[in-house]
Amino acid sequence: MGERKSSPRKRIAVIAGDGIGKEVIPEALKVLRAAAAKGGRELALTEFDWGADRYLRDGTTLPADAPDMFRRDYDAILLGALGDPRVPGNQHGAAILLGLRFKLDLYVNARPCVLFDRRLTPLKDRTEKEIDFVVLRENTEGLYVGMGGFFKKGTADEIATQEDINTRKGVERIIRYAFEYARSLGLERVCMSDKANALAFGHDLWQRVFAEVRGEYPGIQARHLYVDNLVMQMVRDPSQFQVIVTCNLFGDIASDLGAQLAGGLGLAPSGNIHPGQVSMFEPVHGSAPDIVGKDMANPMGAALAASMMCAYLAWPAEAQTTAAAARAASREGKPTGELGGPLGTREAGDWLAGRVAST
Ligand code: NAD
Ligand code: IPM
Ligand code: MN
Repeated sequence: MGERKSSPRKRIAVIAGDGIGKEVIPEALKVLRAAAAKGGRELALTEFDWGADRYLRDGTTLPADAPDMFRRDYDAILLGALGDPRVPGNQHGAAILLGLRFKLDLYVNARPCVLFDRRLTPLKDRTEKEIDFVVLRENTEGLYVGMGGFFKKGTADEIATQEDINTRKGVERIIRYAFEYARSLGLERVCMSDKANALAFGHDLWQRVFAEVRGEYPGIQARHLYVDNLVMQMVRDPSQFQVIVTCNLFGDIASDLGAQLAGGLGLAPSGNIHPGQVSMFEPVHGSAPDIVGKDMANPMGAALAASMMCAYLAWPAEAQTTAAAARAASREGKPTGELGGPLGTREAGDWLAGRVAST
């Protein structure tokens, strides 16, 4: 939805970031290049070395002119992950990742949870058609805005506040996007999840906006679940869900759960989107310091993020062949060790790129 105009050449900013971001992004690029070559498309890739190494070396996080530069000179951004044990507060990661989400106003965080092969889900007897939904996470507000502070820090009387920002405009646009997304794909069900029974102001706004917007989409079943019930229902019977729309923090949590239901965090892609504007695609997972350097990281989430990016850039054939390769890898028992398959990160990337080239 809200795709950019089709053109044969796309300018992509690549931020591999930290940890396994630097391992999976090169593999995703192999797959992306293979898809582009097959379709006779031209890619102009520019790599940015932002991440913990650079931050620790010279203090760089997100340069002040970066948002304008991306808007002006790029069609999309492909990002790996940010986070490094040497930066325990993740200041650089928040500045880069949340900085881009906020400053580019990427208000939709779309996180599809699609089971490619029933052997991959931890849920007993669930089939591919029963796990196929998207989490649409509000991506520019909520508890993530970084408003708050300390009072009497470090003393026994310390107070820490963290503000939860919910604006009429912000809530309405993500809820409306959820209904438009459902309608554009012929889906029947949208579930909005909040915690209005405890968060009586911010999430009361979500309730009121949802009640209003759903009225404009009489053909779509609109349902509400409190978030504690939502996550329980996702495990009990994921086939209930097609489109889940929720706030920034709850969407973060629900999308890791959804990723695991669909086989594993390493498989899950996401798109940080502002329809019609430069947008950013990344795997859902983080920098996974526990497996860095072991050739164990699954590059499929990153490759599928590249596929989402192609779809957004109006390269549907490239999006489709890339997604089909990941699906085939899952079905043909070729995933990485995370999913019980035999391949390392690089082998998996080679397999996916080879598959794209040969289909
Ligand atoms: P994580 O997603 O990095 O890892 C969670 C678990 O999943 C780990 O056991 C890891 O080994 C496994 N895992 C993740 N990706 C995998 C892959 N591709 N293949 C196989 N296994 C994979 O989450 P975490 O451990 O909570 O966070 C680590 C760092 O990453 C932190 O600094 C965190 O802030 C950061 N982080 C960044 C992003 C992002 O940049 N979008 C997302 C989540 C976490
Ligand atoms: C994600 C990550 C980030 C988030 C962190 C690293 C700030 O968990 O992209 O899901 O919470 O959005
Ligand atoms: Mn997360």
